[in-house]
Amino acid sequence: MQGARVAEMLRIPDVDPMDARALLRATLGVSDAFLVAHPGQALTGAQRERYLAWIERRRAGEPVAYLTGEREFHSLAFKVTPAVLIPRPETEILVEAALERIPAQAPFRVLDLATGSGCVAVAIALHRPGARVTAADLSGDALAIARDNATRHRAAIEFIESDWFTALSGRRFHLVVCNPPYVAERDPHLAEGDLRFEPRRALVGGADGLYCIRLITDQARAYLEPGGSLLFEHGHDQGERCRALLVQGGYRNVAAHRDLAGIERIAGGMV
Ligand SMILES: C[S@@+](CC[C@H](N)C(=O)[O-])C[C@H]1O[C@@H](n2cnc3c(N)ncnc32)[C@H](O)[C@@H]1O
Repeated sequence: MQGARVAEMLRIPDVDPMDARALLRATLGVSDAFLVAHPGQALTGAQRERYLAWIERRRAGEPVAYLTGEREFHSLAFKVTPAVLIPRPETEILVEAALERIPAQAPFRVLDLATGSGCVAVAIALHRPGARVTAADLSGDALAIARDNATRHRAAIEFIESDWFTALSGRRFHLVVCNPPYVAERDPHLAEGDLRFEPRRALVGGADGLYCIRLITDQARAYLEPGGSLLFEHGHDQGERCRALLVQGGYRNVAAHRDLAGIERIAGGMV
């Protein structure tokens, strides 16, 4: 492949053409429009080497986002490493549901529990600059990435290392948002695709996937202002059980937010 050009570099056997495009864009630091407009552009030797090394790792299953170190979420670019979950499109529903509840101006305290890359906290902070956003995670490595993302987007966020609410004693928030680990520990999907490479701690929520959600619905009340809300993401088949947990926990106005296919992905309630 001496003197390889863009068009040839995109015809790679055994690799999804969308993945090849993403890897080539990141190698060259160009847009998709550039790749379309310049099929004859030659890669330098170093670019070719880097791209083909990524292609090999992609063939072995590594997620594109971990190779390029970046993933777009809510129209913002986020740094990602294997220390954090790769932000998912469905989590944008959590952000939208949160923004509906946060006034544009009034003083408002928001907690993003289990912040990972910080994508939820950063998106909220940028859309509601009047809100005071706190982001917590058990993983110090994840918090380092979240801090980098907040700095990159100039989002004012307080970061706290905490095992769920333990480091937040005495604090009260108007809104707690969370995308917790909610995959059941024997779910066969854990052995497939990107999930094989993501931190287990970010994915697995006990035997039935609901361990963290039970803990959060149980404990969040004590950290919410009167009239405050809890909102969290859950698995595609967990909606009914999550709403039931909120009702059992004494939350009012229990509601679900659905994805474009009409599937419940976010549950919430007020205290
Ligand atoms: C599903 S990821 C969500 C990351 C990010 N909020 C997102 O939506 O992309 C779950 C996060 O929960 C964190 N986590 C797991 N156990 C925790 C605990 N006991 N206390 C706090 N955070 C925890 C993991 O480190 C991981 O970052």
